[in-house]
Amino acid sequence: MSDKLHDAVAKPPLRVLIFAASLRDDSLNSRLAKLAASVAEQHGATVDRATMRDFDVPSYDADEEAGGAVPAGARELHRRLEANDAFVIASPEYNFSMPGLLKNAIDWVSRCKPQPFHERHALLMSASPSMAGGNRGLWALRIPLEHLGARVYPDMFSLAMAHKAFAGDRIADPALQHRFEQYLKAFLELAEAAKHYPCIKRAWVEFLGEHPDAAVDRVEAK
Ligand code: FNR
Repeated sequence: MSDKLHDAVAKPPLRVLIFAASLRDDSLNSRLAKLAASVAEQHGATVDRATMRDFDVPSYDADEEAGGAVPAGARELHRRLEANDAFVIASPEYNFSMPGLLKNAIDWVSRCKPQPFHERHALLMSASPSMAGGNRGLWALRIPLEHLGARVYPDMFSLAMAHKAFAGDRIADPALQHRFEQYLKAFLELAEAAKHYPCIKRAWVEFLGEHPDAAVDRVEAK
C-alpha cells in the first residue's frame, strides 16, 4: 500500500482552526494567519479559517452567564474549537500582553461545556512592526491557555518589523519563510501524532503528572 493510499484510508486529515486576534482590515496578524493556513493546507491539514469578528463578544458578565445568555461569538468559538483537532492564533501584542478582546473571548468560552481548550493542541504566533515581533504578548497568552489544559506548542513564532516583512502572501526573507514552514510542520506533526496515536496522548498526560481530582479538575471527565 502506498503512503498516499494509506493516509487516505486510515488517517482522516488533521482539522485546524486558524484565526488572527485583530479586527483591523489590514491586520499584519491576519496576513500571518493566512500564510499559516496555506502552509497547513500544503501539509494536508483541513483548515478552518476564522476571523475575530466571528468571535466578537461583549465584556464577560457573570450575571448574563447565570441568566443563560452566553453570547453568540463565544458559542461560535466554542463550536469551532470543538470541531477542530488543533488551533492556531496569530495575535497582536498590546502593551506587552494579549489584546483584551481575545482574553475576553477566552474567558467566555472557558465557561462553556465541554471546556474546549482542554487537550487541544495550540500554536501561537504574532506579527508586529516592533523588533520583538509581539513575542511578549504570546507569553501572556500562554498562561490562560495552559491553565485551561491546551497543549500549547513550546515554540512561538514572532514576525518582527512585520509591516516590512511580507512580499505578497509570503515572508520576503526566504530563510525566514523556510523557518516558518518548518515550525508549522513540526507543530502539525505533533498534533497529528496525538490525534492518531493515543500512546502519545498518554505520554503527555504522564509528563504533566495530571491525575483526576474532582476538587481541582477544570473539566468534567469524559
Ligand atoms: C500596540 N502595538 C504594540 N506593538 C508591540 O510590538 N508591542 C506592544 O506592546 C504594542 N502595544 C500596542 C497597544 C495598542 C493599544 C495598540 C493599538 C497597538 C502595535 C501593534 O503591534 C500594531 O498596531 C500591529 O499592527 C497590530 O496588529 P494587527 O492589527 O496589524 O494584526
